[in-house]
Amino acid sequence: MPGFTASDVTDQRGKCFLVTGANTGIGFEVARALAGKGARVLLACRDEGKARAAMARIESEIPAADLALIPLDLTDLDSIRRAADLTSAKPRLDALVNNAGVMLPPLTRTAQGFELQFGVNHLGTFALTGLLLAKLAETPGSRVVVTASLAHRRGQIPFDDLNAEHSYNRYQRYGNSKLANMLFSFELDRRLRAASSAITAIGCHPGLAGTDLMRHLGPFKGISGLLRLVLNTPEMGAWPALQAACDPSAQGGDYYGAQQLGELRGPSGKAWRTQRSQRSDLAERLWDVSVAMTGIDPGLRPAQNILP
Ligand SMILES: NC(=O)c1ccc[n+]([C@@H]2O[C@H](COP(=O)([O-])OP(=O)(O)OC[C@H]3O[C@@H](n4cnc5c(N)ncnc54)[C@H](OP(=O)(O)O)[C@@H]3O)[C@@H](O)[C@H]2O)c1
Repeated sequence: MPGFTASDVTDQRGKCFLVTGANTGIGFEVARALAGKGARVLLACRDEGKARAAMARIESEIPAADLALIPLDLTDLDSIRRAADLTSAKPRLDALVNNAGVMLPPLTRTAQGFELQFGVNHLGTFALTGLLLAKLAETPGSRVVVTASLAHRRGQIPFDDLNAEHSYNRYQRYGNSKLANMLFSFELDRRLRAASSAITAIGCHPGLAGTDLMRHLGPFKGISGLLRLVLNTPEMGAWPALQAACDPSAQGGDYYGAQQLGELRGPSGKAWRTQRSQRSDLAERLWDVSVAMTGIDPGLRPAQNILP
């Protein structure tokens, strides 16, 4: 089975996609591919200079590209609120592609004091998505894409120490944040279905792609050079997100990832996920904690609490 690649993305003229972390790596390639298919792309980035440079790169290749910058720093709920307001003022939003992420930083805290990996990768994604659901609901068939990772397989949700007050293992915390991405995307889809919403939520992972994600690996970040040779390029790493965002046959609750070499590389298709990532008890508890921590309530009730 060949699997889904960027060449399977059909004409997207008339549609609008918001891609977080679109200035580099996988997010950049998602934005470039969508712009190449005629979509309007909102690049949600924290560094205006890098974002403008990325937009110029896309425009040099696709002169007709329809691009706009949405300033977004996922370490700060105020910035997330402003980005959601700016996006909500746009005429339409067909898909929110939650791609931005951080991996293996030293212990760092967000503006609101959250541990950085959980704060950016999960809480930031949760907050932005929650604030944009009303806008997405205006467009029939709109989608929320959440980017997880193979690293979700080793993840846990340490409810007694979500903010790393007692211990911090950066590898474990990355896996935890990616498990949280999985739990959130499936819980979001379950709640949307239960609310008879036309929005769908779909998860994805890029396999292993040589990008700037390795930036905190210090002297070991050179392995990203090797990865660039043998594993996914950023362009290939974008395929699962593109499938999640654009494949007409994709369903809410699906999870897409690279299909070859143990899901490390290659075209996109249905991916494997752990039992833990599908546990609704964990997902519901994480949802409630995320509402409490961010103060942002997406306003959807748990699926089983809705009577048929
Ligand atoms: N590469 C892989 O092999 C791999 C594997 C599994 C999952 N993933 C996931 O794929 C996604 C994209 O990763 P990548 O490999 O493309 O990494 P990348 O090249 O490092 O790109 C990450 C993007 O996220 C942005 N970002 C980081 N912190 C942010 C914040 N506080 N606010 C807003 N944007 C922020 C970065 O902006 P700056 O450039 O300004 O820092 C950058 O645009 C991540 O969610 C990652 O966990 C990647």
